[in-house]
Amino acid sequence: MTDIPPPPLAGVVGWPIGHSRSPVLHGHWLSRYRIKGYYIPIGLRPQDFEDGIRSLPRLGFRGVNLTIPFKETILSMADSISDRAALIGAANTLVFREDGSIYADNTDGIGFLESVRSSAPYWSPKSGPALVIGAGGAARAIVSALLTAGVPEVRLANRTRTKAEMLKEHFGARVTQIDWERASEAAAGAAIIVNTTALGMVGKPPLNFGFEHAAPNAVVVDIVYTPLETEFLKRAAECGLHVVDGVGMLLHQAVPGFESWFGVRPEVDEELRNAVLSA
Ligand code: ATR
Repeated sequence: MTDIPPPPLAGVVGWPIGHSRSPVLHGHWLSRYRIKGYYIPIGLRPQDFEDGIRSLPRLGFRGVNLTIPFKETILSMADSISDRAALIGAANTLVFREDGSIYADNTDGIGFLESVRSSAPYWSPKSGPALVIGAGGAARAIVSALLTAGVPEVRLANRTRTKAEMLKEHFGARVTQIDWERASEAAAGAAIIVNTTALGMVGKPPLNFGFEHAAPNAVVVDIVYTPLETEFLKRAAECGLHVVDGVGMLLHQAVPGFESWFGVRPEVDEELRNAVLSA
């Protein structure tokens, strides 16, 4: 009798976990590439997180994605951490090595960049300053990726000033702080304008932002994808600006994890986008 190797497993760990679209996304790729593996949502209570994660490699998991509230806590447990995860201070992708050690990476920032590049190929980090609205976890990943890619200046506007100051302190001289009330004015000369807050999401108020100062070739990005067309993007489109919705970042951030766990570099395309949006 020949030994049949167990199917490769991966998943997403969070608490609560019900809302995650990652199982649909990875499930679509698994069937597209005819891989006999599984991607499973795993709800772990915070008090069970460490033991739970440590048991996964023994159960056949090759790695997992992490979501709220574990993206920061994993860093003290991981055996090795990518430079970008260390810089962001959070990880969203774990790879379990054959020796049982845990490698933690953060693909949110490159997911963001890939999403913008594929939608607006004329944009480059060298195109000019970026205006980033918000200073939470998503902003950390995006600011970090923009600076690493070579953006000359990141203008940061956040309702709570001290949080923007902390980011400026962390990322250094290329970050400039903008008063929340004057965020719209800071769009002048920006090559890219990004909403990283949850404002505009279903159930939240819209982000009140005017594009009258924005350059005509500015790219406007929202990380919110429920709804797909936020008030922020609607206003930008009405001003003739190129808009990038939040689904692209979700899709592109998933690529490195899938490749590490299942050995195929998956394509991000319209079919995947439709599958995730209709789930
Ligand atoms: P995430 O990890 O998704 O980025 P977060 O770390 O909680 O979430 O950050 C949320 C961001 O949205 C913050 O920049 C927050 O601003 P504050 O630092 O002032 O809290 C911003 N945000 C949330 N609700 C907001 C609101 N009603 N008005 C303005 N900004 C808001």
